[in-house]
Amino acid sequence: MSQPVYTPNPDFVSKARVSGMDAYRALYKQAEENPEQFWGNLAETELHWFQRWSHVFEWNPPFVKWFVGGKTNVCYNCVDRHVLAGKGDQVAFHWEGEPGDKRTITFNDLLALVQKFANVLLAQGLKTGDRAIIYMPMIPEAAVAMLACARLGITHSVVFGGFSAEALKARIQDLEAAAVITADGGWRRGKEVRLKDAVDEALGECPTVKTVVVVQRTKSAQTMAAGRDVWYHEAEANVGDTCPAVELDAEHPLYVLYTSGTTGKPKGILHTTGGYLLQATMTTKWVFDVRDGDVYWCSADIGWVTGHSYIVYGPLSAGVTGVIYEGAPDTPGWDRWWEIVARYKVSVFYTSPTAIRALIRQGDQWPAKHDLSSLRLLGSVGEPINPAAWEWYHRVIGKDRCPIVDTWWQTETGAILIAPMPGATPLKPGSGTLPMPGVIPDIIDLDGNPKGPNQEGYLIIRRPWPSMLRTIWGDPDRYAEQYWGKVQGVYFTGDAARRDEDGYFWVLGRVDDVMNVSGHRLSTMEIESALVKHPAVAEAAVVGKPHEITGQSVCCFVTLKRGDHDVEALGKDLRQWVAHEIGPFARPDEIRFTEALPKTRSGKIMRRLLREIVTSHTVSGDVTTLEDMGVINRLASQQDED
Ligand code: WTA
Repeated sequence: MSQPVYTPNPDFVSKARVSGMDAYRALYKQAEENPEQFWGNLAETELHWFQRWSHVFEWNPPFVKWFVGGKTNVCYNCVDRHVLAGKGDQVAFHWEGEPGDKRTITFNDLLALVQKFANVLLAQGLKTGDRAIIYMPMIPEAAVAMLACARLGITHSVVFGGFSAEALKARIQDLEAAAVITADGGWRRGKEVRLKDAVDEALGECPTVKTVVVVQRTKSAQTMAAGRDVWYHEAEANVGDTCPAVELDAEHPLYVLYTSGTTGKPKGILHTTGGYLLQATMTTKWVFDVRDGDVYWCSADIGWVTGHSYIVYGPLSAGVTGVIYEGAPDTPGWDRWWEIVARYKVSVFYTSPTAIRALIRQGDQWPAKHDLSSLRLLGSVGEPINPAAWEWYHRVIGKDRCPIVDTWWQTETGAILIAPMPGATPLKPGSGTLPMPGVIPDIIDLDGNPKGPNQEGYLIIRRPWPSMLRTIWGDPDRYAEQYWGKVQGVYFTGDAARRDEDGYFWVLGRVDDVMNVSGHRLSTMEIESALVKHPAVAEAAVVGKPHEITGQSVCCFVTLKRGDHDVEALGKDLRQWVAHEIGPFARPDEIRFTEALPKTRSGKIMRRLLREIVTSHTVSGDVTTLEDMGVINRLASQQDED
């Protein structure tokens, strides 16, 4: 197969942390042959420990523990140790709000902020082992709150600010959280997103929550519930400046992050302390090649796993200067990001294919207005990047000079598992290239047989890795079944992929009922259960439809209960309904009303056929299990009339 290959330029290679393919292969081989020694050495040299571990890992399939008996603290590694090493005056974050306000936070500042925040949490009665929800805009206090929780061993769960009160409530209840940390609101496209209102709405049915800490951002009017809600700026005036980091077990739960699965109920993915931090740190260094003098910017939201591993924990532990931006990429104009790159002289930039495609559509005049010469490395995450978007990113943003690291990973994997090392790996647009050291992926069929070169199959991982999820919160059986039970003894990613003749991985997309819209995971089941809660809806089936910008869009097939319906108004109403139940980012693009849904004789909705209808307008696959072929013919012809 002929495809363009981009070899790293000699200048980049000579300065890189991992220079040349021989260096990559040597690391890979060490990790494969002796994982204990490989990860043990890295843990010793790359992280601070209060107490050394007795075993590097203990694998009782499907449960793993890393650095057994070791004691450390994630916040201490991300903040204190850099101050102690003399880096206190280095900028930890350049922050910019959407309206244009700015803050520069050094590692010294960050240490002071985190200790204050931790003392406020203690003063509110929180303690090690409690759970706290963080529901915040992209302001420095979001990262500070995460670090303050990590400092005390309070397990945090960040809920993306785009989720609705309903979704927030479900997460608070599942986690039995003792506290919610939020803000009055945040700015998005010039409008206030009123977060505290959503918290108030959610808390009606959340008896475990004893306290709500509210950071002031927009200064809008708020109602504060006496005895429950406190303003952060008032509470911090009454607490001390210092707060030691708690010595925590390497397996202490650091955070739970909810992600969409194949059922209506989101899964709480649990990550722990030592192994997670080590792999987040190492992949930040290997893949983003960061070093002193770099300014690193990941445009993700802190509410997604990318924000956890590659805005907060990985980069801070690696001691790199970062950028955080609060708002939308098009406010006030479509060059906001490039203005920020030029202002802070960003050298490493990490974003998603959906953002790149949206930027392409706006035209090259926007990046052309700004000096992007500080950039030296670009990254992509969230979905397969189509070669055309890759080429644009490389040419228009990277000026044919910057390597692009296409990073494959998941909420569950905690850290990047497949990606190039930019000073070593020749790049092929659209491929995540090769596995990171310590990661043994394969492509197999459902019987466990490996597939040959260029054959499509299921992407699996053969051995446990340090930043792997430990379980699904409160549901170890679902964890065992979903990730280790599909094919006995291997981690099932839920992605289809192939490996080419050079061993490069090409991820093709999900094989389950999970959609990927703008790089956000959405479950078809979650949207279906939201729809059928509506009084007019009888049944619903949701599928992802290919979309030029967002990768997939949400297309809903709905049957209605008896009665007179104004379908136009109802369509609008249902889109709004889903936005209210889950969050505005899950708002369906299309609602199609139909008399019936295609079903098997046993009554299962055949989403595969609906997917084919929205993709190719016809149905070519196996329809022998379909109960009534007429349904499909009617749906397909309805499509042609659109
Ligand atoms: C997809 C985001 C192709 C994949 C970090 C995976 C990708 C899901 C890539 C996880 C990539 C992520 N190339 N596909 N570089 N990165 N994916 O949990 O389907 O939000 O299973 O984690 O996104 O999404 P999640």
